[in-house]
Amino acid sequence: MEFNVNGKVAVVTGGTRGLGLDCAEALVLHGAKTVVITSRKAKACEEAKAYLDKVAKGNGKSATIIAIPADIAKDQDLEQFFKDVSAKIDRLDILIANAGASWGAPLSEHPVSAVRKVLDLNVVAVFHCIKLFTPLLAESGSAEDPSRILIMSSVASLVPQDAAGTYGYLASKAGVSHMGKNLAIQLGPSNINVNSLAPGFFPTKMSNGLLEVFGEVMVEMNPKRRLGVKADIQAAVIFLCSKPSAYINGIVLPVDGGSHLVGSPSPPSKI
Ligand SMILES: NC(=O)c1ccc[n+]([C@@H]2O[C@H](COP(=O)([O-])OP(=O)(O)OC[C@H]3O[C@@H](n4cnc5c(N)ncnc54)[C@H](OP(=O)(O)O)[C@@H]3O)[C@@H](O)[C@H]2O)c1
Repeated sequence: MEFNVNGKVAVVTGGTRGLGLDCAEALVLHGAKTVVITSRKAKACEEAKAYLDKVAKGNGKSATIIAIPADIAKDQDLEQFFKDVSAKIDRLDILIANAGASWGAPLSEHPVSAVRKVLDLNVVAVFHCIKLFTPLLAESGSAEDPSRILIMSSVASLVPQDAAGTYGYLASKAGVSHMGKNLAIQLGPSNINVNSLAPGFFPTKMSNGLLEVFGEVMVEMNPKRRLGVKADIQAAVIFLCSKPSAYINGIVLPVDGGSHLVGSPSPPSKI
């Protein structure tokens, strides 16, 4: 069996650093024809494109990298991003809705606006992205090799306990995992598979603050006694985007060493 994305065209939101960049790199290394990345900052887009171009060149791959800055939490920006992407690609096979944000604070100090902001990016923008790109995905998918939507959810969608007061984040990730299952039923007949990834803790800009405080205990509690590394998320992405996984639709795949089975460190004592 061959696990690859040979000749595929992909869009990865939040593809300029962290898990999104890991996903984009995996697609480049496993044969993608074109990988489109986006994030808010133009400089981050340029740097990530330069990195991915170098990865392609260094590994004898011919992927074209397209980087377009956009704030996808803003409806108009996302619509413009969709138009710009549509003008540059001839087909779309893979959408990785990865961009996300978090906010942690005790209940009494937790701004309602922070919850709203997190939900806007982690849920509404994911929905909006899927809505915009679905017609293109439907054109390129086949019964033997459907198009793929991967939603970057989180182990937080499976474990209701959290150590840092990330109320909106937990709700957002449970929400998108559920939305993914709903869309899997609806889009399956149109040859689009929708699956969610539920990573545990991977060191990135987003998780570093939490890991500084809870990193050691998270490693101790994890059945594999370590945090996630790049190869862990890349393996899951390539598996779920390859032809042999054509019959896997509507799952939420933990990529967490089994941490969802044992939960998170204790919740904050301060409310
Ligand atoms: N790291 C973990 O342990 C972990 C665990 C479970 C799930 N996840 C999920 O994985 C995804 C990626 O997280 P990460 O840890 O890699 O975070 P990260 O390092 O903070 O990366 C987030 C990416 O999203 C982009 N982004 C943020 N807001 C955006 C917006 N409004 N419009 C467009 N792009 C935006 C960022 O670039 P700009 O700042 O330039 O916009 C960046 O490229 C998130 O959905 C997160 O919830 C992470």
